[in-house]
Amino acid sequence: MDSLGLFILLLLLCFQGTAASDANKSPWTYTGSVGQSQWSEYFPDCGGTSQSPIDVVTTQTKYDPTLSPLTPLGYNQHGSKPFTLHNNGHTVVIELPEWMGLGGLPWLFTAVQMHLHWGNGGPDHGSSEHTINGLSADAELHVVHYNSELYPNISAAMRQRNGLAVLGILIVTGEETNLAFNNILSYLSRIRNADQKAFIPAFDVQSLLPKDLGSYYRYNGSLTTPPCYQGVIWTLFHEMVQISKAQLLKLETILYASRAEDHEKMLLQDNYRVTQPLNRRVIFTSFSGESRKELTSGEVTAIVIGVMCGCVGLAVIVRFIVKTIRSTSSWDILPSNRPAPTPRTKEPETAKEKQQDVVLNSTTEGQKTEESSSFLQTEP
Ligand SMILES: *[C@@H]1O[C@H](CO)[C@@H](O)[C@H](O)[C@H]1NC(C)=O
Ligand SMILES: *[C@@H]1O[C@H](CO)[C@@H](O)[C@H](O)[C@H]1NC(C)=O
Repeated sequence: MDSLGLFILLLLLCFQGTAASDANKSPWTYTGSVGQSQWSEYFPDCGGTSQSPIDVVTTQTKYDPTLSPLTPLGYNQHGSKPFTLHNNGHTVVIELPEWMGLGGLPWLFTAVQMHLHWGNGGPDHGSSEHTINGLSADAELHVVHYNSELYPNISAAMRQRNGLAVLGILIVTGEETNLAFNNILSYLSRIRNADQKAFIPAFDVQSLLPKDLGSYYRYNGSLTTPPCYQGVIWTLFHEMVQISKAQLLKLETILYASRAEDHEKMLLQDNYRVTQPLNRRVIFTSFSGESRKELTSGEVTAIVIGVMCGCVGLAVIVRFIVKTIRSTSSWDILPSNRPAPTPRTKEPETAKEKQQDVVLNSTTEGQKTEESSSFLQTEP
């Protein structure tokens, strides 16, 4: 190899070294050179076929009646020991005590931490990780648990099948302040820079969750951040929780992804991953879909009108057919050479025809009311 070749090789090795050490120093980001489309180069699992988050297409979900309501264990027995709040440069993490857990899954899961994903304070919506029928919520809370029945700790569990159980809670904004979220938001000013930690008063973690813990989507997925391990049993609650616009704005604008000593300040924003292909996975629901829900009065009216229109249409068609048959048969009966009937002989027939029409009309009228009343009787 000539000296130029050697030089180029050395240069390449050198660049690779810098890139690698960069990746180690600040292993990954959401955008830029180590952004989400590059994650799989450094973390192969991120390119797997069972990744999270996903878009939930509700018409393609499958109802599984065996999915029972989840039971948070010890969520509201927080004790007096403070929680640790941590800005890790990617999100805000609240470490959870090990007596908190999750029941209602085939194994017992122990709580580890919870964290949030959010946007950038701009007018664009679309900052949750999971989406429903292509629509994003404003932010998302994840409560992470590991399978403590099968594995000794989270680092062992996170690489394994069924190793983790994560609760996903979609957050939308409304008028009212959600006081439960202030247990976190009020203390973010203490951890504005990456790597900062603070103790905060313990609080009722269950108050962050939606009220209905029985209705959820369930699927097999992954961590939504590198290393993207694919052993996560996901539970995405159907009910969303609401915080105020001011609360969301605070979350979106207060934290930095940069460290206190960094010269360049960088806000911690848009820390959500785009939805990943579902591939062959099935999303199960613990609740049955639209078909079972009770009909609204508007829908009832629409159906009644539909049935009535159908009956009237049917009556018109029947009448037309009867008329056609009658006129055809009279043509058959009447010999072609027979002279045209006199008005006198025709008169009673017209009267008879009218009478028959009345009879026909009243029958359909009767059928109509019968149909609508029997329909109304089946109405719950
Ligand atoms: C987790 O468990 C594994 C396997 O028993 C062990 O090797 C490892 O040291 C443990 N890690 C921690 C952080 O306790
Ligand atoms: C997840 O995968 C396991 C097999 O690895 C399967 O038994 C289970 O039914 C799957 N769960 C869901 C919700 O798809």
